[in-house]
Amino acid sequence: MLETKDLTIRFGGHVAVNGVSCAFAPGTLTAIVGPNGAGKTTYFNLISGQLKASAGTVSLDGQLLSGLSPSARTHAGLGRAFQLTNLFPNLTVLENVRLAVQATREGAHRRGLNLWSIWSDHKALTERADQILADVALKSREHATVASLPHGDQRKLEVALLMALEPKVFMFDEPTAGMNAAEAPVILDLIRRLKQDKTKTILLVEHKMDVVRELADRIIVLHNGTLVADGEPAEVIASPVVQEAYLGIAKEAAA
Ligand SMILES: Nc1ncnc2c1ncn2[C@@H]1O[C@H](COP(=O)(O)OP(=O)(O)OP(=O)(O)O)[C@@H](O)[C@H]1O
Ligand SMILES: [Mg+2]
Repeated sequence: MLETKDLTIRFGGHVAVNGVSCAFAPGTLTAIVGPNGAGKTTYFNLISGQLKASAGTVSLDGQLLSGLSPSARTHAGLGRAFQLTNLFPNLTVLENVRLAVQATREGAHRRGLNLWSIWSDHKALTERADQILADVALKSREHATVASLPHGDQRKLEVALLMALEPKVFMFDEPTAGMNAAEAPVILDLIRRLKQDKTKTILLVEHKMDVVRELADRIIVLHNGTLVADGEPAEVIASPVVQEAYLGIAKEAAA
């Protein structure tokens, strides 16, 4: 169970996330919605450790994560899409995914200089990386360098790297933003399949309400950094606070 208690961050006088207490159970997909600037991405950054909370705590399965570095939180099971800026832009797509797979497999590098075991490790890592690339429909680009990828493929690669981590908690922040009509379904399908693994906790920030309606088991709404609604999708979507908060977004989507 992922849990935040009174999680808060202030930027100068502005409270971007304001005392958010919420628990996320394995086997559920929770959509986090709210207007632009509501604090959704900031909430993710506080959970993953990219930002340091002004107050409150984050814990996973009873382990307090507050105060841990982002990489220690990743190790504990929190999966946040990599920033492509953290990758090796001059290595290929396959090489990057293979490194991510390798980083999550313990002991692979501790077998000493046994050429056979190095080879067989390498083969297993490559096979896993290949599988992930097939899952995100990026196999045709496996030998391209990251730097040369068009935007949609970079977003797919972010998801591929997240899959490689095999985390307990998957955090997706507008995963299909900037993708074209052919690319978005691949990612949504992957999230659908992840949902079938009932042990995973999935958090999804998403503006597209049709996607939210289809995928979410639960919706929470942030507004000015505060948690203002939490419940069954149909109920939350029908609530006045969402209708109001989304008027602007509905206009934007229609434009
Ligand atoms: N590093 C920062 N320094 C100062 N203010 C910040 C910082 N990061 C976020 N903010 C502010 O915090 C508020 C919440 O921003 P955040 O990006 O979390 O919103 P969001 O809900 O993800 O919006 P969107 O839907 O547009 O992605 C905004 O007012 C933003 O300007
Ligand atoms: Mg955001």
